[in-house]
Amino acid sequence: MSHQPALATPHISLTPGESIFVLTGAGISAESGIRTFRDANGLWEEHRVEDVATPEGFAADPALVWRFYGQRRAQALTVQPNPAHRALAALEARLGPERFFLCTQNVDHLHEAGGSTEVLHMHGELFRTRCSDPRCPKLPFHDERHDFPTLPRCECGALQRPHIVWFGEIPFEMHRIKRRLQASHVFVTIGSSGAVYPAAGFVREMLYRRENGERVRTVYVGLERPENADAFDEVRLGPAGVLLPGLFAVEG
Ligand code: APR
Ligand code: ZN
Repeated sequence: MSHQPALATPHISLTPGESIFVLTGAGISAESGIRTFRDANGLWEEHRVEDVATPEGFAADPALVWRFYGQRRAQALTVQPNPAHRALAALEARLGPERFFLCTQNVDHLHEAGGSTEVLHMHGELFRTRCSDPRCPKLPFHDERHDFPTLPRCECGALQRPHIVWFGEIPFEMHRIKRRLQASHVFVTIGSSGAVYPAAGFVREMLYRRENGERVRTVYVGLERPENADAFDEVRLGPAGVLLPGLFAVEG
């Protein structure tokens, strides 16, 4: 009988037929140079959430809000994906769309730049703009503008706004997210402080399923314990760019 040496960090393994739901947060882009929100030196230390990330803030001072997102666009144009983004792209390529689902709270484009082909941006996208009038038929569009000498307006006359989900607004595609949560066996969150709902509650959906007798596994990967750490089976501490490559093992 041969003895396998115990692995310091065992893989997250997927057996044939198992599928995975991955939720990412700002931490996965930190090593690319995008600032997180709640860490020391995070974005919310310098800006009031109410001023720049709520519909009320936009109504009160749209120029301030556009300045904030213009700066974030300009900065995001200078960054590159890191090994964590690429590891998820490789896993998607290995498993295919039926068995792999990537949902991100991030508004940056680094998953796509790292090779992911299907990404659900539940909090919107930095490089998209839409009309602020919900009745307007004009669809959200790709937009890399970052200097706004005058406030951008839609053809209908209403102000344009970033295609971002602000506090007090409902994240995109919650029905599709719920469906994929219910169909997945493994749930992994990467680099999210677990402070913002509904995303911070996705891990609980998996716990309900376990209470109903289903076999599910949940893992958190990130620099420090998130606020919802207790809901995970396992917490793996470290930088995403170091831990993600080689983390997953696909059997069969
Ligand atoms: N690798 C892994 N995790 C990291 C790294 C790293 N290199 N650097 C930081 N982290 C972790 C931090 O420890 C923290 O727990 O990433 C997490 C980032 O947390 P937040 O800044 O709160 O970001 P996030 O959870 O994505 O925020 C959720 O809040 O303001 C809103 O809409 C915004 O989508 C955002 C939402
Ligand atoms: Zn319009």
